[in-house]
Amino acid sequence: MAARQNVQRKLRPHSNSRSKGTTVPKDLLTISDIPGPKILSLLQLAKKLKSEHKKGRVIAPLKGKTLGLIFEKPSTRTRVSFEAGMNQLGGQALFLASEKIQLSRGESLADTAKVLTRYLDGLVVRTFEQSSLEEWGRHTTIPIINGLTDYCHPCQALADAQTIQEYKGKIKGLKLAYIGDGNNISHSLIEIGAKLGMHVSVGCPPGYEPDPLLVKKAQEDGSQTGAVISVTPDPCHAAKNADVIYTDVWISMGQESEQQPRMAALAPYQVNHQLMKAAKPNAIVMHCLPAHRGEEITADVLEGPQSVVLEQAENRLHIQKAILMEWLGRHNR
Ligand code: CP
Ligand code: NVA
Repeated sequence: MAARQNVQRKLRPHSNSRSKGTTVPKDLLTISDIPGPKILSLLQLAKKLKSEHKKGRVIAPLKGKTLGLIFEKPSTRTRVSFEAGMNQLGGQALFLASEKIQLSRGESLADTAKVLTRYLDGLVVRTFEQSSLEEWGRHTTIPIINGLTDYCHPCQALADAQTIQEYKGKIKGLKLAYIGDGNNISHSLIEIGAKLGMHVSVGCPPGYEPDPLLVKKAQEDGSQTGAVISVTPDPCHAAKNADVIYTDVWISMGQESEQQPRMAALAPYQVNHQLMKAAKPNAIVMHCLPAHRGEEITADVLEGPQSVVLEQAENRLHIQKAILMEWLGRHNR
């Protein structure tokens, strides 16, 4: 994986923080940056926003605010849920395809970031390296929100936590088994499990493990919350008695040239009917999507009665509205 650096960032408190005793960073770059109590309050807000949205109630706390989105990789869910969410909160969203802005003709990231700070109230960035996302953060005074990097996908993990809470009534003490490639999705799930006291067991082939530094840090966090974080090459062992079975694609965006070795190494890690027998009978099946049926998951499991993938995708909208309210609603330029 291109960016497996250990990310150590300082928390920068909001000057206008409403939550006593908790600080959030200026930017949402990783789950590990967000204090556990703040994650729980975001989940609570997302639940309320979802319920209000279902009742057709309209609120406009972000009226007059503009969110930019700079995406260097394709996206369906992240782009549309942020754009729709921003509109639903009374603000506006501007999608800035990276190849259509001067960045693609050599304008520096620093100059672009400093200029966009003058127009926008927040920016969602989908890019390759985590270090480039951090660079956006350093050159802006507006919040930068991680819309996926090679290293992690925090907005996805927050939506996943919301979904688990909805279906299981709690998060702490549950076991999530992540089966497949130890990629960006696995990283954010490990981090959120450690923060919220949910055990995370990763079943992955040798050579495709999650970043060992991230795992070590999560194990330290987990010792405070009761979460056990483990990595094993045995998918059935990882899935044993799991409450949640989670998988993701074997070839992430940017890894297309590695297709053959990845398919070969990951073939024994398919989420299928047989693997599901190791999990609890009432386990839910999750996938961040897009899915490749017949590769990381079989069609019958993806579309079966235990699958919650569409609710999971919907929750991107609700949790991201909570994120926008938290980061853009409070931010003073
Ligand atoms: N799960 C997810 O982030 O999907 P997109 O790539 O479609 O945004
Ligand atoms: N691991 C996948 C997630 C897509 C949402 C990728 O990075 O392509």
